[in-house]
Amino acid sequence: MRNEIKQLTKEILQLKKERNAVILAHNYQRDEIQEIADHCGDSLGLSQIAAQSDADVIAFCGVHFMAESAAILAPEKTVLLPNKDAGCPMADMVTAEGLRKKKKELGNTPIVTYVNSSAEVKAESDICCTSANVVSVVNSLEGDSVYMVPDMNLAKFAATKTDKKIDWWKGFCPTHQLVTGNEAKKVKADNKGAPLVAHPECRPEVLELADEIRSTSGIYKFAKETSAKKIIIGTELGILYRLKKENPEKEFILLSKNLVCPNMKITTMEDLRDTLRSMEPVITVREPILSRARKALDRMLAVPRDR
Ligand code: 13P
Ligand code: SF4
Repeated sequence: MRNEIKQLTKEILQLKKERNAVILAHNYQRDEIQEIADHCGDSLGLSQIAAQSDADVIAFCGVHFMAESAAILAPEKTVLLPNKDAGCPMADMVTAEGLRKKKKELGNTPIVTYVNSSAEVKAESDICCTSANVVSVVNSLEGDSVYMVPDMNLAKFAATKTDKKIDWWKGFCPTHQLVTGNEAKKVKADNKGAPLVAHPECRPEVLELADEIRSTSGIYKFAKETSAKKIIIGTELGILYRLKKENPEKEFILLSKNLVCPNMKITTMEDLRDTLRSMEPVITVREPILSRARKALDRMLAVPRDR
């Protein structure tokens, strides 16, 4: 296995050079993918890197909506999604048609759309947000109410942090949704004194028990800065690889064994090599969706991170 990875690493690095490619990996990707990536990050950080990169090709190891955001922000680059089946079930919980119908009921209420959504849905939105900037994005809007799509848990979290009235689409992340309040209570009781840092895609009853609520990159920052020696992690398993590597003196407890996103685990080193070899599958977004979705993403990128 080790030799196989070594050989694949060699091939990928060679192809990367030939293609003038940059490899981006989300914080939930397999360990070896995170290891070979030029940049690992959360959805916000990776969008910013994609927008600024001077590579000709972006190999995006993540899920479809992330590669699509890169294609919107860097339309002159070739954006590759190494495994075409890497999707996000939460993003699939809302369609552009469904949102258009909802907008008719809502009148002028601004639509804040989580980046975990299709380009078509972003195109119907006033502004995007990620888990790293949701509160600042909501507060950046005029008026006293907003409508959030598609993650109800993220929306409920934002509602606890702002004076604005928030209503939401009833989508959720099937992976984070599996963690219950009782499970979180038990893990906290079994690890007395250890802070729980959780992703805002968790259920409200889990977030109520959290000491910190952060994006995936925010969780890395918290782990580095806290003086605690044992930390409970309320997000997907893939985050543990670099948490342990960057903080060898600390212990990390995963809040639940169910915190595994199959779509984030689907991309292999073989897929990455093959995509750089064949230059397929390419993710593209057509006009007029591209310009309309870009407006919502650009507007988000002008807002600072929450912290
Ligand atoms: P982050 O933007 O915090 O990395 O989260 C993305 C995601 O899909 C979480 O499930
Ligand atoms: Fe989508 Fe949840 Fe997987 Fe993130 S963890 S990509 S929100 S299904």
